[in-house]
Amino acid sequence: MTYVVNEACIKCKYMDCVEVCPVDCFYEGENMLVIHPDECIDCGVCEPECPVEAIRPDSDEVSAKFLEINREYAEKWPNITRKGEPPADGDDWKDKANKFEEDFSPKPAPR
Ligand code: SF4
Ligand code: F3S
Repeated sequence: MTYVVNEACIKCKYMDCVEVCPVDCFYEGENMLVIHPDECIDCGVCEPECPVEAIRPDSDEVSAKFLEINREYAEKWPNITRKGEPPADGDDWKDKANKFEEDFSPKPAPR
């Protein structure tokens, strides 16, 4: 069992979630975070921290599409344990649909 970040995170990337994770299993892309499914201990404390409900348990139907995406990019992107500077226009992307198809960046966060 794991929690999964879905496309609601894309370009919002508030990062409130990373501060509460007891096992530091978030990984940072250019415009989205993911959770490593093998490291997440399913504690659930990150879920209510996200203002756009981008984090759901893997039992949620939205999570099905994003579980393997979380796994793939958790292997490619750097670990993040502290909240960084969220995008200045993040609020403008809150209600955007089809963000994975149209707005997702596979690039890692610049370090
Ligand atoms: Fe971390 Fe718990 Fe969220 Fe998993 S459910 S990502 S262990 S805070
Ligand atoms: Fe993304 Fe929500 Fe975390 S927008 S960075 S999952 S707080």
